[in-house]
Amino acid sequence: MRLFHLLFLLLLLRCFPAPLVRAQSSQASSLDAILQEYAFRALVKPKTGTIYNATSQLPSNLTGVKIAALRLRSGSMRRKGFPSYNEFEIPKGVIVKPYLKRLVLVYQNLGNLSNTYYPLLPNYTYLAPVLGLLLYNASNLSATNLPTLNVNASGDPIKVRFQDVTDPPLGAVAKCVWFDLQGSSNFSNVTGGNTCSTSTQGHFSIVYDSSVLLRPPPPPPTSPAPSPPKESNKVGLIVGSVLGGLVFLVLLFLLLFWVLKFKQKKKIQRMERASEAGEALHMAFVRDTKAPAATGTRTQPALEHEYAP
Ligand SMILES: *[C@@H]1O[C@H](CO)[C@@H](O)[C@H](O)[C@H]1NC(C)=O
Ligand SMILES: *[C@@H]1O[C@H](CO)[C@@H](O)[C@H](O)[C@H]1NC(C)=O
Ligand SMILES: *[C@@H]1O[C@H](CO)[C@@H](O)[C@H](O)[C@H]1NC(C)=O
Ligand SMILES: *[C@@H]1O[C@H](CO)[C@@H](O)[C@H](O)[C@H]1NC(C)=O
Ligand SMILES: *[C@@H]1O[C@H](CO)[C@@H](O)[C@H](O)[C@H]1NC(C)=O
Ligand SMILES: *[C@@H]1O[C@H](CO)[C@@H](O)[C@H](O)[C@H]1NC(C)=O
Ligand SMILES: *[C@@H]1O[C@H](CO)[C@@H](O)[C@H](O)[C@H]1NC(C)=O
Ligand SMILES: *[C@@H]1O[C@H](CO)[C@@H](O)[C@H](O)[C@H]1NC(C)=O
Ligand SMILES: *[C@@H]1O[C@H](CO)[C@@H](O)[C@H](O)[C@H]1NC(C)=O
Repeated sequence: MRLFHLLFLLLLLRCFPAPLVRAQSSQASSLDAILQEYAFRALVKPKTGTIYNATSQLPSNLTGVKIAALRLRSGSMRRKGFPSYNEFEIPKGVIVKPYLKRLVLVYQNLGNLSNTYYPLLPNYTYLAPVLGLLLYNASNLSATNLPTLNVNASGDPIKVRFQDVTDPPLGAVAKCVWFDLQGSSNFSNVTGGNTCSTSTQGHFSIVYDSSVLLRPPPPPPTSPAPSPPKESNKVGLIVGSVLGGLVFLVLLFLLLFWVLKFKQKKKIQRMERASEAGEALHMAFVRDTKAPAATGTRTQPALEHEYAP
């Protein structure tokens, strides 16, 4: 029985990929509860559809974190969305279950505390702060420890447009990371250089995987930067030597051809000289069109002209 349990556990561990976040989700969810409480404090007789910056409500041990609160009617959110809630763009069609008349949308920017509450696996690095969007029941603005709701963007996705995204190092690819409220995470592609899409609430950021950069270096560990030029130099060298060889062969061939022609010409000249002893050498070439010597000398410059450039 014990062995069976162990085997089952091993099977489970094999089936689920290594989580991006180490077991810190309870710390993160207690932060959510704290930030909900502080964000709601900024909502004193709030106007619906107005963003309230609640950053100044935070205690000093949360310096670097920014929060805001926005109250909306759920019907209005579903019909019209909310185009610009800081970095978040809420499209129409976002549905919340169970049904609520009014909602509070809490915005979080964890700034330099992103790594503390959402630590990444060693090979990953943040290129932007972790941003959070969480939806709560707005009926009691002094309520604490509110349960999370079920949020679904049934039409277009919710977009997160990050500001000031750091560029990943050359060779690394930026990826969106999404942390759900249960503590699991997933990746998706960045669009437009700074935008992530989601169908629900949670925490979002942009990361890159540095193991992609660390794996290739074993052959050239001393100088990883000049390695691409080296490669192209090698290719250039090969192409250059092949071309050079070809040019050399062509030249050699031309030289051989020319030497043979020259020898032939000399031979014919000798024969001509022997046969037409009295005539001037020059005249013999111009007049005697039937002689092979004349055609030989006329085609030769044409050949040179063809190959010379
Ligand atoms: C909220 O206010 C803080 C200062 O209290 C400021 O640093 C921050 O930029 C503001 N956030 C937004 C989204 O306006
Ligand atoms: C911040 O300090 C307060 C006491 O001032 C403490 O109750 C709270 O747990 C601390 N919060 C964090 C996130 O460390
Ligand atoms: C985060 O940055 C703020 C200033 O923006 C600083 O006061 C705070 O000490 C920093 N916290 C950490 C953990 O680096
Ligand atoms: C929202 O909160 C109010 C007041 O606390 C409560 O009566 C109501 O049942 C809550 N609605 C949901 C869907 O949780
Ligand atoms: C709102 O929540 C607070 C804190 O949980 C509680 O004391 C109060 O009775 C609640 N008010 C209503 C109307 O439910
Ligand atoms: C969200 O809505 C879409 C479209 O209505 C639906 O296909 C999907 O199953 C829903 N997802 C959840 C988690 O309710
Ligand atoms: C992660 O996202 C991909 C699509 O980007 C999806 O196919 C996959 O099911 C997701 N995994 C989890 C555990 O949510
Ligand atoms: C993400 O990007 C990669 C490469 O750019 C591409 O192969 C893949 O299909 C994309 N995934 C989605 C869900 O768009
Ligand atoms: C991180 O990168 C190192 C070096 O490339 C590699 O050995 C290690 O397996 C990677 N760890 C994970 C969790 O991917």
